[in-house]
Amino acid sequence: MRLEPRDGERIDRSKPVTFSFDGWSVTGFEGDTLASAAFAAGKRVFSRSFKYHRPRGLVCCSGHCPNCMMTVDGVPNVRTCVEPIREGAVAKAQNVLGASFASLGQRDRARAAFSASLQSDPHDPAAYSNLATLEMEAGDLPRARRYFAEALTLDPTNEIARQGLATVLAQR
Ligand code: FES
Repeated sequence: MRLEPRDGERIDRSKPVTFSFDGWSVTGFEGDTLASAAFAAGKRVFSRSFKYHRPRGLVCCSGHCPNCMMTVDGVPNVRTCVEPIREGAVAKAQNVLGASFASLGQRDRARAAFSASLQSDPHDPAAYSNLATLEMEAGDLPRARRYFAEALTLDPTNEIARQGLATVLAQR
């Protein structure tokens, strides 16, 4: 969604610029930042928090927080709210581990991403916890219970896994 044109705006609406964001083609305008163009195109989740994988997006819009960081053209941790849009740039959400697929309801792609994450790090409690949440939402409670338990074994302080396991056990 875009605001109506107004005097003095920084973008030039006569000059479209296209880049990719997580495989989607996003078109903004000269004068946009990568984040402002992605936001105008309806994208909201730019990264996930390290510990609990909560969604992160635009907050300060001035380059002073970690919430809009993406990997851009292979460079990690780019604050995209102050990074000018560039034709052909390739931006990727960070630390998402399939969570962006899950939030779109694409369970198979999310499951594949979480499983790939576990293959590269079999001791990642967040990946187990994410898989468990996915299976719980899909109705596979035995598998969800097993994954939540594994997440808690690896990280006994994982509150999402603790609460998820309690929810699964209450449904038996
Ligand atoms: S939204 Fe805070 S640095 Fe970009």
